[in-house]
Amino acid sequence: MNKDRIISLLNQDLEGEHSAIIQYLTHAYAMGEGEMACEIEAIAREEMRHLDWLAETIVELGGIPSLKRGEMRMGGSKVSEWMKNNVLLEEDAIDLYQQHITLIDEAKIKRILQRILSDEKSHHGDFEHFISKSQREGAKDIRGNRIDKTVETLNWGIEHEYTVILQYMFQSYMATNPETKKQLEDQAINEMQHLGWLAEKIVDISGNPRIEHTEVEQSTNTSEMLQSDIKIEEVVAAEYDRAAKETENPGLKELLLRLRDHEIYHAEVFSDLLKEEEQ
Ligand SMILES: [Fe+2]
Ligand SMILES: [Fe+2]
Ligand SMILES: [Fe+2]
Repeated sequence: MNKDRIISLLNQDLEGEHSAIIQYLTHAYAMGEGEMACEIEAIAREEMRHLDWLAETIVELGGIPSLKRGEMRMGGSKVSEWMKNNVLLEEDAIDLYQQHITLIDEAKIKRILQRILSDEKSHHGDFEHFISKSQREGAKDIRGNRIDKTVETLNWGIEHEYTVILQYMFQSYMATNPETKKQLEDQAINEMQHLGWLAEKIVDISGNPRIEHTEVEQSTNTSEMLQSDIKIEEVVAAEYDRAAKETENPGLKELLLRLRDHEIYHAEVFSDLLKEEEQ
């Protein structure tokens, strides 16, 4: 099979991982703290590792990792119905990986896909177990429908965080300088934490986190990409600072100031990298 065809199959797998991550995180956040939510979040983290392996393989083949998200299976009004949807999503993934393992001859890639497939089979079993467990234990959707300025600001934060996660991961995959690659990856992981904190805070105050992103800057020129990253970080740091000053809620203020400080740190890290790059 030619390289382009393999790249396109792997990108299809990657888009599937992306949808699984967002579907599972949405469920985990909606359920609040608790054992099952933690286990679902752990499964989402395994899907992140899959996405990472697939993206690195695509880049090794000379391809560009897709930033598209595959079809999610959202919907359902009860946790048990969500878990059923997760079982179905894992079945979609298992079918696709089995097809791709048959189609691709390259031993190393086959091995990676086999490894992912074995995880998906295990997730499938976990979610089947969660269907009955959620019925037995009465697991609940604890989100509310509060809509106000605070929820709006926090959702704006999620939108920003999700966008930069994709942007920094993409840039990290495409970067050739090892230090730049590592820093972008580190900051992307930090932004994932931010997304989680914001989503949990929204659920805490009876809102509904909206996990969507805006346009991702996909420049592969290192200076250009670092310049746009610095600009985003500065804008978002100022916005978190503004929101922190506006709120009377001490817990929320603390969260927003912590986020602000992290974003300032990111801007400084990127500025250093840019200086090195331009020398
Ligand atoms: Fe996966
Ligand atoms: Fe999975
Ligand atoms: Fe952030």
